[in-house]
Amino acid sequence: MFFERPETGELAVLVHIDFGHEAQREDPREFEELVLSAGGDPVAFVMGQRKLPTPRFFVGTGKLEEIRQAVAVHEAEVVIFNHQLSPSQERNIEAELQCRVLDRTGLILDIFAQRARTHEGKLQVELAQLHHMSTRLIRGWTHLERQKGGIGLRGPGETQLESDRRLLRERIKYINGRLSKVQKQREQGRRARSRADIPTVSLVGYTNAGKSTLFNYITKSEVYAADQLFATLDPTMRRIDVQGAGATILADTVGFIRHLPHRLVTAFKATLEEAASADLLVHVIDAATEERLANIEQVEAVLTEIDADNILRLEVYNKIDLIDGMAPRIDRDDKGVPERVWLSAKTGEGVELLFEALSELLAGDLLHQTISLPPEFSRLRARLYETSSVLAERYDDSGNIEIEVRMPRFELLKLLSAEKINPTSLGIAMPVEEWEQ
Ligand code: GTP
Repeated sequence: MFFERPETGELAVLVHIDFGHEAQREDPREFEELVLSAGGDPVAFVMGQRKLPTPRFFVGTGKLEEIRQAVAVHEAEVVIFNHQLSPSQERNIEAELQCRVLDRTGLILDIFAQRARTHEGKLQVELAQLHHMSTRLIRGWTHLERQKGGIGLRGPGETQLESDRRLLRERIKYINGRLSKVQKQREQGRRARSRADIPTVSLVGYTNAGKSTLFNYITKSEVYAADQLFATLDPTMRRIDVQGAGATILADTVGFIRHLPHRLVTAFKATLEEAASADLLVHVIDAATEERLANIEQVEAVLTEIDADNILRLEVYNKIDLIDGMAPRIDRDDKGVPERVWLSAKTGEGVELLFEALSELLAGDLLHQTISLPPEFSRLRARLYETSSVLAERYDDSGNIEIEVRMPRFELLKLLSAEKINPTSLGIAMPVEEWEQ
């Protein structure tokens, strides 16, 4: 399969080998999208089938020859494998082809490095890059020396490799130190926001779903974006106005990717820090792609892993402009609660429905109340903590817990019904009007 010769970007030959294991099969189409995301220009796609990788070049000599020819014909600058290569395989192939080689981990790290926007995200990505590079140390580390000043760092008798390793260790230690500081600061910022009662809405979703397009559409619009009163240094967070809920923080996050190399999970999750503490997750889904369901599943699985699966959720089915005869609309569950909004972030049609749904979920239904929980309701207390709805608690004289919560009304009702607790027994009135503070 060959592509048009592109105008710009790094010319890349893509290599994808099918090893016949369904579970480990990386999707070639997604691979191509990742390369485009990283700013590469795929000029040729070399595919093949094997039972097992070869120890030396990962592929067989015939396939290697095919790659060599593709590199020569297209004057490619980089060969990217849709697989994890061992450092020695990467070196061997590079030496053999006389061309830079990148594996899937390197590719994804590159994308993360470009996308990580928060300080913590950047540090985590650098840490993952350093770990990835540490196994490939032999190649030289001049950029690190430049960062640290270099001169005087090398002790007498130390080999290049030893000093490189030392630089690397120092850098990792430095970054870990910075990370714990940043994490503390973030935690404080989060607490300050939650004290100020400002709800946070985080956009999450599979890569390419259209999160950034939606984020930009909303934050650039005069209708939805609030003035910059809450300006932060972080470009992924903006203040928006949701009718009835007032000031709200909208946060963008990095896209999800299937088959994330294990070592990158922490870096990825750090970029999702904000999502895990949101009041509402807006899950943006590309409604026009065939992989829609698999992508949704993948996102749900990661949300469970970062303990964000209990957070109130709204789905956005995006890109309806690509679906014939599809008009924007809100889907509701049998209680009338908005579950899904169909819209186009590109044309903006349906964005007003998203705000309508946000307003219903965040404003009308928001319950802010102190509930007295008898000791035997400790499970309910744990569930409340899981949904990040607890603002404060204290024990009263009779051993009950006075717990102050802020959460959507129906979320609490759902929890109570799961625990088979009658809301009125906790002094929580059922009719909607009586729920107001
Ligand atoms: P990551 O940053 O990889 O997580 O992606 P993302 O979810 O932020 O997606 P992004 O906003 O970068 O959009 C991906 C592609 O989809 C871009 O080419 C957008 O122009 C396109 N896109 C986004 N929304 C729409 C839409 O409503 N309709 C159409 N036709 N294209 C859209």
